Amino acid sequence: MDLPFAESYKIKAVESIKKSTREEREQWIKSAGYNLFNLKSNQVFIDLLTDSGTGAMSDKQWAALMMGDESYAGASSYYNLKNTIRDITGFDYFLPTHQGRAAENVLFSALIKEGDIIPGNAHFDTTKGHIEYRKASAIDCTVDEANHTEEYFPFKGNLDLEKLEAVLKKYPKSQIPLIIVTVTCNSTGGQPVSMENMKAVKEMADRYGIPVFFDAARFAENAYFIREREKGYENKEIREITREMFSYADGMTMSSKKDAIVNMGGFIGFRHKDDFEKASQFNILFEGYITYGGMSGRDMNALAQGLYEGTEYDYLNTRISQVAYLGEQLREKGIAVQYPYGGHAIFVDAKAFLPKVAKEEYVAQTLAVELYLESGVRSVEIGTLLADRDPNTGENRYPEKEWLRLAIPRRVYTNNHMDYIAAALINVFERRESITKGLRIVKEAALLRHFTVELDKI
Ligand code: F0G
Repeated sequence: MDLPFAESYKIKAVESIKKSTREEREQWIKSAGYNLFNLKSNQVFIDLLTDSGTGAMSDKQWAALMMGDESYAGASSYYNLKNTIRDITGFDYFLPTHQGRAAENVLFSALIKEGDIIPGNAHFDTTKGHIEYRKASAIDCTVDEANHTEEYFPFKGNLDLEKLEAVLKKYPKSQIPLIIVTVTCNSTGGQPVSMENMKAVKEMADRYGIPVFFDAARFAENAYFIREREKGYENKEIREITREMFSYADGMTMSSKKDAIVNMGGFIGFRHKDDFEKASQFNILFEGYITYGGMSGRDMNALAQGLYEGTEYDYLNTRISQVAYLGEQLREKGIAVQYPYGGHAIFVDAKAFLPKVAKEEYVAQTLAVELYLESGVRSVEIGTLLADRDPNTGENRYPEKEWLRLAIPRRVYTNNHMDYIAAALINVFERRESITKGLRIVKEAALLRHFTVELDKI
């Protein structure tokens, strides 16, 4: 008999989570204005709001904390992290930051000016936010396959080279300070970019004289997919793959809260000293001196250890198999999800799930509320609430896809939890015909409304 799949770690510390009754949840979600961000964590049984900063650190990471060097300048923890980053990415220069969006803020302060154009593959919200805040524009060049939810395509994070070249031809070099490749691409469902595509993007960028930066929050999960799906990589070590990936970039921004399995932290990696020097002044201004930039020494130590653990094959196999284990149960029942499954989350197609709810009534948010009421599982809307209003017309922007994201924290839940989540969503699916009404907005902020919006049932 083949031995069954089993996790590549065992559990040393546990945290209690509390089940609740449907009556309690009805009360809580009403008081929260039907916004899951407003729930208290003890009102949630299984929390799939995000995989960011929610992972479980290892015994070695906790041990590394004790060895942190809190010197203001030149701490050994900084050099420890610097050597690790060089080993995994090949980048000689780096700046620590307190999280991923801080890395974007520092890097973009150095590179982006008003009127600039930044092509990429479905830029993450904070990335786009930092671009638009500088009165520049993000242009999405993702392959069309990313929108064909149920059709298999191995690299739904890829950039469409024709779309990219059209942008590079249309605008002068002086107006395109960088191309951003997000690995994996969160916004299309945690979907990977192939090595072939990274290489082709870099070759094209070099021809036009434009630098390429990776938004590398989930770079290790991307490397795992390359190993699984791309010819020639099946026997390679994950770190060999990451080094080749980063060889096609001039730098990177990192939210360490994802694939480096720490609760807080980020950094920028640079190939070129002049980029590093340009960004350093903004790091000192916004984050902190260049050898700590918003991170304590102990946290840099835990991050260095996390980068190694996050790039181990057995860990990645455990993690990504768990996400697929959940996806498979939903897909078997006919629930439309982004397929193949992403690295960090299952993205449920809410419009296909709730066809009777009008788009003006926040379809994915309606589904998130139903799932919470059913089970105490907290998910997140990636749909009209997140897409926000058009700043010029004030009208809602309706994105092509209304996603319900089930983001899986790293090393936190077991497959029994996955069974529970699947059963809960399947229960909602089985009564979907009866869900015909959605939500309406009662109160919203002018910017980033999804975090604080208050809604009511229609
Ligand atoms: N880039 C990507 C691809 C991300 O997914 C995120 C965060 C960031 C940048 C920003 O990093 O949060 O450390 O400032 N994504 C989280 C999520 C919030 O839930 O997907 P940060």
